[in-house]
Amino acid sequence: MRLHCLLFLLLLLFHRTWAETEAPSPLPAESKLFQLLQTFLLPSANSTKVAGVAVLTDMFVYMLDPDTWNLRICYPWVHQAMAEGDLVKLMSSFKLAMRNVIRFMHEMAIQVQAEYPVVFQVHTGCELHPNGTSRAFAKIGEGGRDLVEYEARRRYWAVQQSTLLAKLVGHSLNEMMAVTEMVEHLLYKTCPSHVRALCRYGKADLERQELPTATVFARKAGPAQLLLVCRITGFYPRPISVAWLRDGYEVPPGPALNTSAVLPNADFTYQIYSGLTVAPHDGHSYACRIRHRSLGTRSLLLPWENRIVTPAVIIVIVVLVLAVAIAIGAAWWWRYRKGAMSRQDPRESLI
Ligand SMILES: *[C@@H]1O[C@H](CO)[C@@H](O)[C@H](O)[C@H]1NC(C)=O
Ligand SMILES: *[C@@H]1O[C@H](CO)[C@@H](O)[C@H](O)[C@H]1NC(C)=O
Ligand SMILES: *[C@@H]1O[C@H](CO)[C@@H](O)[C@H](O)[C@H]1NC(C)=O
Repeated sequence: MRLHCLLFLLLLLFHRTWAETEAPSPLPAESKLFQLLQTFLLPSANSTKVAGVAVLTDMFVYMLDPDTWNLRICYPWVHQAMAEGDLVKLMSSFKLAMRNVIRFMHEMAIQVQAEYPVVFQVHTGCELHPNGTSRAFAKIGEGGRDLVEYEARRRYWAVQQSTLLAKLVGHSLNEMMAVTEMVEHLLYKTCPSHVRALCRYGKADLERQELPTATVFARKAGPAQLLLVCRITGFYPRPISVAWLRDGYEVPPGPALNTSAVLPNADFTYQIYSGLTVAPHDGHSYACRIRHRSLGTRSLLLPWENRIVTPAVIIVIVVLVLAVAIAIGAAWWWRYRKGAMSRQDPRESLI
């Protein structure tokens, strides 16, 4: 009986960081956002510098070589995705289209007598939702502010600011029916099918999972305040759920709770921080609970005891418990051996 209790205690000591979620609430499936970000720097009326990158969720898939305007492919599987659909045909006229875009931008800048240098940004892309629907967008900005945005329902470039340049760009684009037709096709046909192809060929890289590493510690935050900190790092993909439990119940949002944004690490993983302000020795038990795709339906639970329990104390307890368990086990074994020996046929023991 006592041995059972000890084993149970041991199990508690070693098992408590992992817990099945009572009601598994999986993180929602992610939307797939594909973005093309292009910058056109016009230093003077006769020169242009172009930069461009394609990003799928948070991965750079290809970028534009600023000198040759060739695409630099970031993963081998992107080649396979690029070979599908009408992308091959598109790429053959890509440089010509770029020259037309650049000519258009200079025309706009000259017509409004903009002062060089002028910087245009083009932000286009589409997003595939888990429910099968998708959305697309196309925006043109100058100096970091949107000039026009494409409205699919009205097939119309809506002006986003009341400057002469915004009005001129909007008006000119709305006049060019062929351009609108092409943008419509690119946004609502080419983009979603390209994203599906990228997701299919790049599955292994896109669905990569890295387990979070977490630590919980306390810091003095004032004369009668303690800041409990839960620091989680090294996880991928980005979505994560972090909560503090007080006596097993989730602490609701409030001034005591402070969770940071998800921040990127240099190794293409992410980190997040959550702080909870508590009164020292308030008699409650606290734990940081983490849910992440790499954990499946399990949660990672990191308890923080509102008592002074140092690692040294835990080690001493574990060693003591182990010693007692071994002693009891040895005593049982000794007694069993003795009992068995006395019951045994003496001839058998010779074998
Ligand atoms: C570009 O324009 C500047 C003046 O605006 C001129 O000095 C320069 O020679 C021109 N460069 C070319 C390649 O035409
Ligand atoms: C599909 O999901 C997106 C984002 O989650 C949502 O905005 C949209 O309304 C949903 N559409 C339908 C038809 O359920
Ligand atoms: C939340 O934490 C950040 C970083 O430690 C800190 O700058 C900020 O003031 C905190 N906010 C609150 C409401 O405690």
